[in-house]
Amino acid sequence: PRPIFLTRHGESMDNVRGRIGGDTVLSDVGELYAKKLGNFVVKRLKSERAASIWTSTLQRTILTASSIVGFPKIQWRALDEINAGVCDGMTYEEIKKNMPEEYEARKKDKLRYRYPRGESYLDVIQRLEPVIIELERQRAPVVVISHQAVLRALYSYFSDRPLNEIPHIEMPLHTIIEIQMGVTGVQEKRYKLMD
Ligand code: G3H
Repeated sequence: PRPIFLTRHGESMDNVRGRIGGDTVLSDVGELYAKKLGNFVVKRLKSERAASIWTSTLQRTILTASSIVGFPKIQWRALDEINAGVCDGMTYEEIKKNMPEEYEARKKDKLRYRYPRGESYLDVIQRLEPVIIELERQRAPVVVISHQAVLRALYSYFSDRPLNEIPHIEMPLHTIIEIQMGVTGVQEKRYKLMD
């Protein structure tokens, strides 16, 4: 059976500042994760000639993949982070203060809440369909480097979680989740590469 590896990008400058969305580069800590991920993947997949690395189109995932050499890389728009629309670039505190109705509406129904001129989790789940079809078709390992909301949705698909839980699943930074689909079901392993 061939594994799928899921990971968020390394810590970005916006992660440090607590801003959502954006397209910033990695922090020093994020860059260190990119190196460790590179070592991990190159070691684990060195005999897997057909393995591939999938990222979003945002810098922070492309930079996180930069130390993984020797494998084809594919950028998917469908792997981009949830579009926060008018809230892109804001902190949660700023949203709470300046757009309290939006903040409350999202808190009430995070799955269905759609950011003005942006997306909901349900929108993200829908746009992931072609990625999932392609992932299931692969014969070789795939490393998916994406974002918190997107990975919550992908992970839930493979681990068969109920829809309502998806927006609340813990998806830590600097951790690789390995998923193996076998005859007896799905097996999962986690590698925390940094403290
Ligand atoms: O920037 C977006 C976050 O990664 C998604 O987190 O859905 O918990 O606000 P959230």
